[in-house]
Amino acid sequence: MSVQTARIRPFTPTDYSALGAAYGRTYPDYPWSVEEMRHQDETFDTARFFKMRLVAEEDGAIVGAAEAGHRPSRFDPDSYHFDLWVVPDRRRRGHGSALHDAVIAALRARDARVTRGATKESLRDGTAFLANRGWKEVKRDWESHLTVEGFDFAKFRGADERVAKERIRISTYADELTRDPETPRKAYELSADCRRDVPAIDAPTPTTFEEWRADWVDAPGFLSDGFFVAIDRDGRWLGMSNLLESSGDKSFVWQGFTGVRREARGRGIAMALKLRTVTHAQRLRVDHIKTWNDQSNRPMLAINEAMGFEKQPAWISFEYRLRP
Ligand SMILES: CC(C)(COP(=O)(O)OP(=O)(O)OC[C@H]1O[C@@H](n2cnc3c(N)ncnc32)[C@H](O)[C@@H]1OP(=O)(O)O)[C@@H](O)C(=O)NCCC(=O)NCCS
Repeated sequence: MSVQTARIRPFTPTDYSALGAAYGRTYPDYPWSVEEMRHQDETFDTARFFKMRLVAEEDGAIVGAAEAGHRPSRFDPDSYHFDLWVVPDRRRRGHGSALHDAVIAALRARDARVTRGATKESLRDGTAFLANRGWKEVKRDWESHLTVEGFDFAKFRGADERVAKERIRISTYADELTRDPETPRKAYELSADCRRDVPAIDAPTPTTFEEWRADWVDAPGFLSDGFFVAIDRDGRWLGMSNLLESSGDKSFVWQGFTGVRREARGRGIAMALKLRTVTHAQRLRVDHIKTWNDQSNRPMLAINEAMGFEKQPAWISFEYRLRP
């Protein structure tokens, strides 16, 4: 069957709500609000980085989109992220191929070296589509969920005492902000230090305080009282774990970033922080916390497994090499 009225074209800002609605039909479990999309686009520094987005239309309605761009926090001028989706009831009509080929052509024109995207192992049409077009698997991340109601805190009774004994206190970004104007800077500096060790293919590159602020504190979904920090007796911030609101779906919260400085690892700080996030999720009355972890990130997986996070189908990262 051929679709006479199909076409692809560049995205324009008037497309936000139609794009959001189509995205929601494609990925109902991963809500992404128009507010979040706009925020991400408006804070993306187009003077320094490249990003493109195309949409596919059928009979005047958006039925899919593709995007490619630099990753500002892991910047390599020749490496681009990639995302492509088509609403389920408009697949196998050529929209995906048209979007894919147009984005690859644009990247080729920029002399890109590599592009990477991800799909879930259970989304067989996505994995087959990429494999059929020369994409290769490069890594997997576990998605996992923790049901917060009835969480067995008794199993972790010693966790708070363990850090308290070292005179490490657990606080929140919101509480610290009321007494310490340096709170945003401290959070920025801590996350910049810890993210060096997050397993990833592209190496982290420095981000400015302003970029961090736009991605974190000013982003929709930021929860200042769901951002837990571990602080030592000298006031040094040693670790953090935060939750993010899911704007489109109040039944769950996203796990944000959990990190402990290298010199403070192995002292139970991450576990103490993560237990606070569970209490906070219970206060928010959500059903579960949703997270992802690189399958090679043993220390983080060990904590999540001990807490009872349940593994879901994995997300597979694929890459497409355009040149050596
Ligand atoms: C991957 C995805 C975007 C493909 O979208 P799509 O619109 O179905 O793509 P196409 O229609 O161009 O191609 C899909 C298959 O249908 C075939 N097809 C295209 N037109 C067809 C037609 N008229 N009749 C029958 N088959 C057709 C294509 O040849 C292709 O098969 P192939 O891989 O063996 O060549 C879609 O499956 C999707 O959104 N999946 C979930 C998200 C995802 O995994 N994205 C990829 C990672 S970013």
